[in-house]
Amino acid sequence: MPFLFSFNIRLILVLVFISCMVVKYCASNDLNQDFDITWGNERGKILNNGEILTLTLDNISGSGFQSKKEYLFGKIDMQIKLVRGNSAGTVTAYYLSSQGSSHDEIDFEFLGNLSGEPYTLHTNVYTQGKGDREQQFHLWFDPTNDFHTYSILWNPQTIVFSVDNVPIREFKNMENIGVAFPKSQSMKLYSSLWNADEWATRGGLIKTDWAQAPFTASYRNFNANICNNNNNNNSCKYLVENLDPVNEEKLRRVQQKYMIYNYCTDNKRFPQGFPLECSVT
Ligand SMILES: *[C@@H]1O[C@H](CO)[C@@H](O)[C@H](O)[C@H]1NC(C)=O
Ligand SMILES: *[C@@H]1O[C@H](CO)[C@@H](O)[C@H](O)[C@H]1NC(C)=O
Ligand SMILES: *[C@@H]1O[C@H](CO)[C@@H](O)[C@H](O)[C@H]1NC(C)=O
Repeated sequence: MPFLFSFNIRLILVLVFISCMVVKYCASNDLNQDFDITWGNERGKILNNGEILTLTLDNISGSGFQSKKEYLFGKIDMQIKLVRGNSAGTVTAYYLSSQGSSHDEIDFEFLGNLSGEPYTLHTNVYTQGKGDREQQFHLWFDPTNDFHTYSILWNPQTIVFSVDNVPIREFKNMENIGVAFPKSQSMKLYSSLWNADEWATRGGLIKTDWAQAPFTASYRNFNANICNNNNNNNSCKYLVENLDPVNEEKLRRVQQKYMIYNYCTDNKRFPQGFPLECSVT
């Protein structure tokens, strides 16, 4: 029995090790290994031996962090608990971005609100420096009560934004109709908590209430399934993953029920006609 037991344990360890090598599917249990606090001095902290990361915002400064590594394709999950109470005026940005003037970017931004009023989840995709592809949602839960998982799946065919594993937005590769797609610049993961009360809440009508400061957002259970070695393409299932019909249906329902803004239906903004990708639904 002891022999069998330790044999099994060893086998499991070897399997875990191999799967880490192949897919890098390793839940990180030390955020110190994945991220650097890059803004806000002591306002950003990694606590409990790397289990949890917190960003705060006060009347002097916000704070932020970035990943140590760069990614080119994969699936990235993070659990986030947003600023609670009266968070109006605050923005928690969580995004992948490359460098330079023709950068690519995949954005989640959480716009705070008065207590009891819904957060707005704002999303955008930049390709070769061009964004203007906003879609906004209300969530089906209070994102300040508990941690929820926010994910980005990114491969050469598609980008899928998900919340608690429910897809909320897909940006497909539409190079065949002349829309640039992010597929050659690697990106780092960034997050920051900052004051944007000029525009964030009800278009800037509601200002940050500094009596509520410091504002805090928390992060944990970062999971990066990275496919950087794309010469070894069968080693990463996320390189070929697409939405299956069940998830396409989920996406459609979320968009019907929870989407509050879609650039592709904003006539006033595009009097000369919608961007090319809007013709593909
Ligand atoms: C910032 O807030 C602190 C604590 O509430 C207060 O003492 C300080 O005067 C404020 N500073 C500014 C620049 O508003
Ligand atoms: C804040 O609450 C108002 C009223 O419910 C809502 O219209 C708005 O979308 C919410 N979000 C922001 C960021 O203003
Ligand atoms: C890797 O990708 C190439 C080109 O996209 C394809 O022809 C090949 O079958 C793929 N290999 C595997 C093992 O999936």
